[in-house]
Amino acid sequence: MCGISGVVGEGNVIPVLFESIRNLEYRGYDSCGMAVLGGNDIAVRKNTGGVDEVNQKERLTALQGSAGISHTRWATHGRVTAANAHPHLSYDGRFAVVHNGIINNYQELKTLLKAQGVEFQSETDTEVVAHLLANAYLEFGTVEDALRAVLKQLDGTYALAVISPHQPDHIYAVRGGSPLVLGLSPQRNFAASDVNAFLPFTRKAVYLEDGEMAVLTPQGYTLSRLADGALVTRPPQMIEWDAETSRKGGYSHYMLKEIFDQPHTLTNALHIPRVEIAALAQSIQQARSTTLMGVGTTYFVGLLGQYAFSQLAGVLVQVISSDEFPEVAVVGPGDLVVAVSQSGETYDTRSAVELAKTSGARTAAIVNVMGSTLSRLVDQVIMQGSGPEICVVSTKAALSQMLVLVRTALELGLANGRLTPQAHNAWLADLDAFPDQLQKTLNEMSGFVRNLAEKTAHFQNWLFMGRGIYYPMAMEAALKMKEVTYLHVEGIPAGFLKHGTLALVDEHFATLAFFPPKAATRLHQQTLAAVEEVKARSGPVFGIYQENDHEAAQILDGGIALPVLPAGVAPLMSLVVAQLFSYFAALKLGRAIDKPRNLAKSVTVG
Ligand code: F6R
Repeated sequence: MCGISGVVGEGNVIPVLFESIRNLEYRGYDSCGMAVLGGNDIAVRKNTGGVDEVNQKERLTALQGSAGISHTRWATHGRVTAANAHPHLSYDGRFAVVHNGIINNYQELKTLLKAQGVEFQSETDTEVVAHLLANAYLEFGTVEDALRAVLKQLDGTYALAVISPHQPDHIYAVRGGSPLVLGLSPQRNFAASDVNAFLPFTRKAVYLEDGEMAVLTPQGYTLSRLADGALVTRPPQMIEWDAETSRKGGYSHYMLKEIFDQPHTLTNALHIPRVEIAALAQSIQQARSTTLMGVGTTYFVGLLGQYAFSQLAGVLVQVISSDEFPEVAVVGPGDLVVAVSQSGETYDTRSAVELAKTSGARTAAIVNVMGSTLSRLVDQVIMQGSGPEICVVSTKAALSQMLVLVRTALELGLANGRLTPQAHNAWLADLDAFPDQLQKTLNEMSGFVRNLAEKTAHFQNWLFMGRGIYYPMAMEAALKMKEVTYLHVEGIPAGFLKHGTLALVDEHFATLAFFPPKAATRLHQQTLAAVEEVKARSGPVFGIYQENDHEAAQILDGGIALPVLPAGVAPLMSLVVAQLFSYFAALKLGRAIDKPRNLAKSVTVG
């Protein structure tokens, strides 16, 4: 949700600032802007549109200066207009502010400021911060003290970056609930929402904690606690991802690249040291209850985990969508809550973990982004190592998280005697062989998937259904499809069909059925029966099935026949095919695949 970046250095930093905000565009892309310190003034340019579009309209890169801040927005408070784009200037033009987060009490503050005669230029919550800074500076006389005083008045979440000609060649950055990280190099220093902003320039990073302020200059930075001003020393860490990994590498979209990255990212997930996986399994074994938690895709990852734990370890774990956790969860000492998150910054998941901690539960997380809030918040963390996921919709991160949960379920099954060592090893061998099979299938099947997607792109309504472990696959696939195609796609457990959803079916309503291998006889028969029910109502049905499944091939109106795979990895392969199917459908429909409308990566507000 919104990307912020600030750069201060020797000479003109604007080309670097521009590149850094462009690298964060996936966090939000409805408008963008830049504020640059020049002489005794601040120049602000901003407008609606993505970063390149705004550059064309406003010539951001024609600005010059040695310190600047920038923002790419995902609207929360206020419509998508040029006035609501960040940065926001104070009434005296002496402070420019960019913000990620939400100021809850902004209406109250706005009323007070208006009573003092301040005129507002935007509908945003952020603008109050700029005006409050101008007022506080009159009272306190330094930017730093003014900022501390203003922050005391704010209720909400924020990562803020501020520049002011009162203090040229300085950037002030504070964190209160929204992510912020410094990038350090001899030529220039950065403050940004995430490391992607500065990876082409430096890999040396310092993560801010909530309640901290950084003051950056071309030569260095200081870090201090907001509460008492005490200096904080935190050694920088080297970020392992390089900028090249996050580039498109010849693919037309990040989504496609990230789908094709999966053999590699799964290999990384298989290389996570066994002791780490076993430690999580042990925590589950020792816990009175275990809750898996995520939201959106990561909720469906959790759902897959639920099936894996039941089937491999005979342990029923709960799955709760993070946003509902406060309403329904009953956890306390002795319980374990395992959060799943690509970004490690998702507000709903983070606050649910905070709640679990306060309630005395043990917490663990499977996270992709190194140094993220969640990874530092929990008692136990598994870093999944999928590398930067730039496309707004999650593909490779989700698949690796699923693999991590399956590995954990296997360890638990071995530890509690549900699985023999032989069965455990056979499973591991199947997992180990999967990345190569996936690579081969991606290479060989993409053309077929594309054909099917193009052939079916005229359907406006879809039902994705599966039974057993194919149910979470169908749910996640449906989410992917609706995100990138903007079509109406319902995911259901196939057993639900005759309990209501069947009413939707007619010849215009398409279904995608996720078939289990034939060897899973009961599930297979049930899936076939569900398909029959749709066909009997003239509904066109397509399917993802295995190539030895002649019954499925016969009954379907089309589909993708996959190589026969072991039961443990077959559902994951179906999901990858469904990801590709969504991608090609969206391509055919001309959608903004990497940045679908109305969405943002890393939703850091509640
Ligand atoms: C869907 C998607 C979202 C995220 C969700 C959680 O493609 O990406 O549903 O899964 O916002 O995000 P993380 O995993 O960053 O916590």
